[in-house]
Amino acid sequence: MDHFLYRNGTLYAEDVALTDIAAQVGTPFYCYSTATFTRHFRLFDEALDGMDHLVCYAMKANSNQAILSLMASLGAGVDVVSGGEYARAKAAGFDGDKIVFSGVGKTREEMRAALTGGIRQFNLESEPEMLVLNEVALELGTVAPVTVRVNPDVDAKTHEKIATGKSENKFGIPIARAREVYAHIATLPGLRVVGIDVHIGSQLTDLEPFRLAYRKVAELTETLRADGHDIIRLDLGGGLGIPYARGNEAPPLPVEYGAMVKEELSHLGCEIEIEPGRLIAGNSGILVSEVIYVKSGEGRDFLIIDAAMNDLVRPSMYGAHHDIVPVVEAEPGAEQQPYDIVGPVCESGDTFAKQRNMTKVAAGDLVAFRSAGAYGAVMASEYNTRPLIPEVLVHEDQFAVIRSRPSFDEIINRDTIPTWI
Ligand code: LLP
Repeated sequence: MDHFLYRNGTLYAEDVALTDIAAQVGTPFYCYSTATFTRHFRLFDEALDGMDHLVCYAMKANSNQAILSLMASLGAGVDVVSGGEYARAKAAGFDGDKIVFSGVGKTREEMRAALTGGIRQFNLESEPEMLVLNEVALELGTVAPVTVRVNPDVDAKTHEKIATGKSENKFGIPIARAREVYAHIATLPGLRVVGIDVHIGSQLTDLEPFRLAYRKVAELTETLRADGHDIIRLDLGGGLGIPYARGNEAPPLPVEYGAMVKEELSHLGCEIEIEPGRLIAGNSGILVSEVIYVKSGEGRDFLIIDAAMNDLVRPSMYGAHHDIVPVVEAEPGAEQQPYDIVGPVCESGDTFAKQRNMTKVAAGDLVAFRSAGAYGAVMASEYNTRPLIPEVLVHEDQFAVIRSRPSFDEIINRDTIPTWI
């Protein structure tokens, strides 16, 4: 459930009409709901009730400082994958002991920053990385808490670009080699094992792949404990999917996911960490855009809107579906027609939807992309020198611009012309 609902035919974010925000901020813009973000975090937190746990929001889904501060204020932990994300987490007020550092290519500099600023754990992804972290920790006279991300060779049954748990993927250490790697870590004085990490992919719409992976992690926990390692934490990653096509998709709910986690893992007495991104942020945000032209082509009509692939890349990158709805609803029973919904960027890939049925729209009308709160603004670029679009956060009847639209001058002045030109 989210807080983007129609009232008297106009789409609202909580108690604010999107037409009012559009009038003040201009289009296109992202709009997020504080209540939905809060609700989704709590759903996960409550789903793990009864187990010692920490929900570490995967900020890669949406890393605006306002969203991070909201998450910190709710008591969340956070999952970061770069020095930049680590700096964002600290700036938003997360204590070091609530920051988990994931990612396959952590640099020495990133490790140093995290060891100095405070860190809950590093999720190690390879042996070379393990050796480097050991060195960096020793240089700083400290000991780095670590888990090893194991690759369980499970098919997540999701889009190939976001599946991470098969042996052909670049992530983690093959689970069959885990004993050997943990034994090696035990000999390194700069590292201290705290647990095991696993993340098999994103937008999973079935619990079975999770269950298979977690079963393998449970077995490994017992094996590693018997080997003398102190496995006190299990980081189960993120990945629970959301319904992008409403009415047609019903992925498992956090409460069902939580029940499965308890079934598979509670006997181990470990602290559980999860790293959800999409399920917290996805349906907490929409993208609002204005129709520039309706163009009649051969056998099809194009809706040319002022948002483009640079603002929301998921449809062109993954063929992803987003529901697209008029901000002001047509009269009940109004005629529908198919449109190809496209942006102004000079590529045919700048297509959001083909032959999508909608009630008739005209130039100047507003449309909203649902489920755009995760992997939307964070993946945007300024391709075609289109400024990054503003992000707006609503709370009940108030709203705030939490990132403003840069001017053309700001964009141009970021570049420097060398003296020889
Ligand atoms: N933990 C790790 C280690 C991850 O790699 C990811 C996502 C997450 C947690 C969060 O997963 P989530 O709960 O959001 O599924 N740009 C793509 C999604 C990429 C996901 C990458 N890793 C998209 O737009 O679908």
